[in-house]
Amino acid sequence: MAGNNGRYAPMQRYAQIIGWGKALPDRIVTNHDLEKIVDTSDEWIRTRTGIQQRRIAVDPNETTATLATRAARAALEVADVPASKLDLIICSTSSPEHLFPSTGSLVQDALGATSAGAFDLSAACSGFVYGLSLGKGMIATGQADNVMVIGSETLSRIVDWSDRDTCVLFGDGAGAVLLQASPVPGGVLSAVLGSDGSGGDLLIVPAGGSRQPATLETVASGQHFAKMDGRAVFRFATRIMAEATRQALEKANLSIDDVDLIIPHQANERIIQSSMKKLGLPPEKIFMNLQYYGNTSTASIPIALTEAIEQNRLKPNDNLVMVGFGAGLTWAATAIKWATPGVREAPRWRSGQRSAEYGLARMRSRFLQFSRKVEGSLITEEGEAWSAVLSKRITAWRQSQVETQEEE
Ligand code: UT7
Repeated sequence: MAGNNGRYAPMQRYAQIIGWGKALPDRIVTNHDLEKIVDTSDEWIRTRTGIQQRRIAVDPNETTATLATRAARAALEVADVPASKLDLIICSTSSPEHLFPSTGSLVQDALGATSAGAFDLSAACSGFVYGLSLGKGMIATGQADNVMVIGSETLSRIVDWSDRDTCVLFGDGAGAVLLQASPVPGGVLSAVLGSDGSGGDLLIVPAGGSRQPATLETVASGQHFAKMDGRAVFRFATRIMAEATRQALEKANLSIDDVDLIIPHQANERIIQSSMKKLGLPPEKIFMNLQYYGNTSTASIPIALTEAIEQNRLKPNDNLVMVGFGAGLTWAATAIKWATPGVREAPRWRSGQRSAEYGLARMRSRFLQFSRKVEGSLITEEGEAWSAVLSKRITAWRQSQVETQEEE
C-alpha cells in the first residue's frame, strides 16, 4: 500500500472523489409486474414508498461481484486512473457473492488491481458511507492514495418473492466512487457512524450464519430470506436521518443553510420527505431516484450520486451531504466539499487500453488458478513431488522390464 514504505505522509491529505460510476441490471420490473405475483397494487407501492419500478438481476451470471466490478470500472474510467494504482477496495454489501471469500477480493481480481488490499464491509444500507469514512481515514493518514469504495447488491436473491411486505421494496445495482489523496482542501470533511444492535431483529436474514447454519429446516421455513418490521424501521429512519445529518454538518463546521445537495438513502419517499422536513431542506436540494430503482440498499447512495453528477447537480465548492440508515441498526452521514468538475473526456484510445488491461487481468487470474492446480497435482499427499514419484515408478517399471527380459 502507498505510504507503507517508510515515507512520511505529507502534512495535509484530503480525500477527494475523483471518479464515480453505477451498474444496473437491464431487466426492469414494474409495480404492475409485481401485481401478478403478490397481493399488491401499483397504487399502494407508489403512495407508500414512491417506487415505480426496480432493476432485477435475472441473469444468474449477473452477481454482486459483477455489478460491483462494472461500477468500479466506470469510476476508474471517469477518473482516468488505471486499476493498478488502487491501494484499497472497500466493497460494502449485504448480499455478498459468498460468506467468504470477500466480494471485494473478487472485484480486485476482475479489475487486475494487483497492488490493492480488498475486503467486504457489512453495515447494510449505511455501508457505503461507512466505506467513505474508512477510505478518508486511510488517505488522511497516508496509508493509501487511491481507494475504491463500492456499494453493490443483488437483494433479489435474498428476498422472499411471496412476501409483499418486502419484495416490492428492493432492487439490484451497484455504485462506486474513487477516492484519491489530494493537497486541495475539501473532499470528505466529516463522517458520523452509528449503530444500535438492540434493533438487529428488525431487519434480518435469520439463517445462513453461525447462529443458524443452513439446514433443510431453515431452507424450508424461509429463514434465509430478509425479514423486516417495516413500521419500526420507518420510525427509526425518520428520526436518525435528520440527527445524523445535523451531526455530520456540525463536525464539518457547516450549517443546514450551507447544504447545496443532500443524497439520502433511497429507501422510501415518505422517509426522505419527513426527515428533510425536520431539517428544513427544500425539495430542490434533495436528490431522489428511488422511483426508478427501488431500495438498492448500500448501492442506493453511490448510484444516486452518479446520477446527480450526470444531471449537473453538483459543481465545485458545493457542500454535499450523504446520509444512510439500515439493518444493524446502523446509520451514517458524511459532509463533503465537492471539488471535482463534471465528467472529463479521457482520450478514446484509453478505453481500448483499459479493456485490454481487463482482458489481461482475466487471463492472469485463469493462469494463476491453473498453475495452482498444476502445482497441487505435482505434490503427493505425503508432500513428495510427483516428478520424484514418477521417476521412481519409471525406474521400477524399467527394472521389471529388464528382469522379465532376463527371465525370457
Ligand atoms: O433500507 C432500509 C430498509 N427498510 C426500509 O426502509 C423500510 C422502512 N419502512 C417502510 O418503508 C414502510 O414501513 C413500508 C413501505 C415497508 C410499509 O409502509 P407502511 O405505511 O408502514 O405500511 P404498514 O406496514 O403499516 O402496512 C399497512 C397495510 C397493512 O395492512 P393492514 O394491516 O392495514 O390491513 C399491510 O398488510 O398495508 C399492507 N401492506 C401491503 N398492501 C399492499 C403491506 N405491504 C403491502 C403491499 N401491498 N406490498
